[in-house]
Amino acid sequence: MTGFSDAAALDDPVGESLRGHHAHLARRLGGAVTYVPEVATFSAVPAEPDAAAWADLAKLLGPGAFADMFSCPAMPPPDWEPVFVLEGRQMIWTGHGGPAPSAAEFGSDVVELGARDVPEMLDLVERTRPGPFRPRTHELGTYFGVRDGGTLVAMVGERLRPPGWTEISAVCTAPEARGRGHAVRLLRTHIARITARGDRPFLHVAEANSGALALYERLGFETRKHVTFRGFTTP
Ligand SMILES: CC(C)(COP(=O)(O)OP(=O)(O)OC[C@H]1O[C@@H](n2cnc3c(N)ncnc32)[C@H](O)[C@@H]1OP(=O)(O)O)[C@@H](O)C(=O)NCCC(=O)NCCS
Repeated sequence: MTGFSDAAALDDPVGESLRGHHAHLARRLGGAVTYVPEVATFSAVPAEPDAAAWADLAKLLGPGAFADMFSCPAMPPPDWEPVFVLEGRQMIWTGHGGPAPSAAEFGSDVVELGARDVPEMLDLVERTRPGPFRPRTHELGTYFGVRDGGTLVAMVGERLRPPGWTEISAVCTAPEARGRGHAVRLLRTHIARITARGDRPFLHVAEANSGALALYERLGFETRKHVTFRGFTTP
């Protein structure tokens, strides 16, 4: 496909978002940058960070704080205690799952979610565990949900925004509403909107989440690279 941005921005999706589209949701010190904690846990340092960059991030987050480095390949100093390691993939939408759908095809039960829906979004995340989600995570982009008899049963939203790209995230359907095509419909709605504004969709998935991985491949996502997600406690 033509007109898509350079994939190099995807090597540091957190830093590229925090220094660009999400600068209004960022806290910075020197080269270190992190999201406002109510929005997201992710932090970033410059490529090939030196000791000063890690010291800036430690100061920014405070002592004994959670440092979620997302897929950053650089390792912090040894006095940063590892909290978690998770193998995963970064996938980009190639369009091979068919042409981008038009947003008009998707039924009146698909609704845009906002601040007043946050308690229900948090409850759905608690029950489905699609990944980290905070009370203001929805401010990172547009979130769509499916309501069944008024109850929120599925949602999908936008998260990281490196230049030219939009990450699709928080893909989840309540256990009792699965297998009805809600996730596919919401994913296709986002693909349509993102490609219509000239961006290209991408996402991250845990290696062990074979169900979601197969779903994304069927929709036209391909693995760009394998990544390791890491979190630490600052000294
Ligand atoms: C992944 C998930 C969102 C799918 O939701 P859903 O609304 O049931 O998905 P759909 O009904 O649109 O299913 C699409 C297809 O994927 C299949 N599928 C969905 N979840 C699957 C799973 N866990 N394992 C295997 N196949 C799965 C469905 O059978 C369906 O196949 P079909 O079209 O041939 O019938 C849901 O299982 C979920 O919330 N999982 C927990 C949270 C999660 O892991 N999110 C992804 C984070 S990256």
